Amino acid sequence: MTGRELDGGLVERLTAEMHWEMSRTGPPDGFPVFPDIPSGRYTDREFYELEQQHLWTNSWICAGRSSDLPDNGSYFLFDELNLPLIVIRGKDGTVRCFSNTCMHRGAPVVREPAGTVRNLRCQYHAWTYDATDGHLIAVTDERDFPGLCKDDKGLPEISCDTWGGWVWVNLNPDPIPLIDFLGSFATEMDQFQTEQFQLVGTDHRVIDCNWKVAIEAFQEVYHFRFIHDRGGKTQLDSRGATMGLLPHGSSRQVVPFSKHVTEAAGMASFDDWKELPNPFGFAPTSTVHPIVHSTSYAFSVFPNLVTPVAANGFPWMLFFPDGPGRTNIRIYHYSSPENVDMADAWAKRIEAFALIIDEDVENLNPMDRAMNSPLYTGTPISYQERRLWHLNEAIDRTIGIERIPEELRVAQLLGDYIEN
Ligand code: FES
Ligand SMILES: [Fe+2]
Repeated sequence: MTGRELDGGLVERLTAEMHWEMSRTGPPDGFPVFPDIPSGRYTDREFYELEQQHLWTNSWICAGRSSDLPDNGSYFLFDELNLPLIVIRGKDGTVRCFSNTCMHRGAPVVREPAGTVRNLRCQYHAWTYDATDGHLIAVTDERDFPGLCKDDKGLPEISCDTWGGWVWVNLNPDPIPLIDFLGSFATEMDQFQTEQFQLVGTDHRVIDCNWKVAIEAFQEVYHFRFIHDRGGKTQLDSRGATMGLLPHGSSRQVVPFSKHVTEAAGMASFDDWKELPNPFGFAPTSTVHPIVHSTSYAFSVFPNLVTPVAANGFPWMLFFPDGPGRTNIRIYHYSSPENVDMADAWAKRIEAFALIIDEDVENLNPMDRAMNSPLYTGTPISYQERRLWHLNEAIDRTIGIERIPEELRVAQLLGDYIEN
């Protein structure tokens, strides 16, 4: 044991939950009945603007890998939040984030998407900012700016922290600490040793649909038997799916394998947790629990990350809105260190995953168009789609419920069902 393994008590609880889900004849007693989710949340410019002003400015967003900043002075640009940011490792080794808008006439301070600098020197008139704390060091022809106070013209700093080998930014100047926000997600992820992961591939998609239409397709398995049909042989048994609603809108989903997959894998039953040989030949990380091998295990981190984890490396999927009806899906495939050199196997694995994504995204634009129809007013949500309601509740809390027109809100119903 290294101290990084998954807590055995959690595995027992998840196993019991899966058995209970298999056997139930309806939702648990007293579980709330969801009203329809108003379709205006997906289609109205007004709701989109509320998200832009209050959700994306007040959430921890994964911006990249710490390893992409190998040296002091290494930086990369991050523009996915519709404002230009620089993520940079200072002379003290700490990663920080600054606005990439020069305080002189608003040029981008740096233009190259990544690089290494001594200082941040604007390419337009060479105002120079400190790479560590962003303060304005030098102004070209300073004698021509009488009254300019350099102390007031530093680059605005954005909240920034690292966890798991990733850099996270938050436009809220005083956010909840990242590690408190991530909570049990961070604890459960410890088994994967993600700080050692390396990028082995990307798959970026632009989909004409609202970002919630896109991300919600990855937060339930109600669709699995139909959209991901394999000639009548589905891989998962969605009846046993257990959903953990985590604080702050994040969630976990663990789904047992279907009977034929269980049998083919030599498992005595769906909960015969075993380290299974990987079909692509990857070696597992030793601290990963067998339950990860023998289920479909996935997380979403509020608001825009989905990750279906695996014992040897896995995809990390980020969803960014680009207007009310357009979403950039950024899929990053990471490998654990023992499998980094298996280029052919990764190519096959990434292609196989892309096929699943193709099946998911095929629906998204037609759904978005249908949601814009006046004949469609809202989405009924089932018990097994409860992660979607949980996401939407947290969106409203983050925006501020009172800011949202009543007809566009979702009720706060799941407070009693959130895991501690
Ligand atoms: S805009 Fe940057 S120095 Fe003028
Ligand atoms: Fe799917």
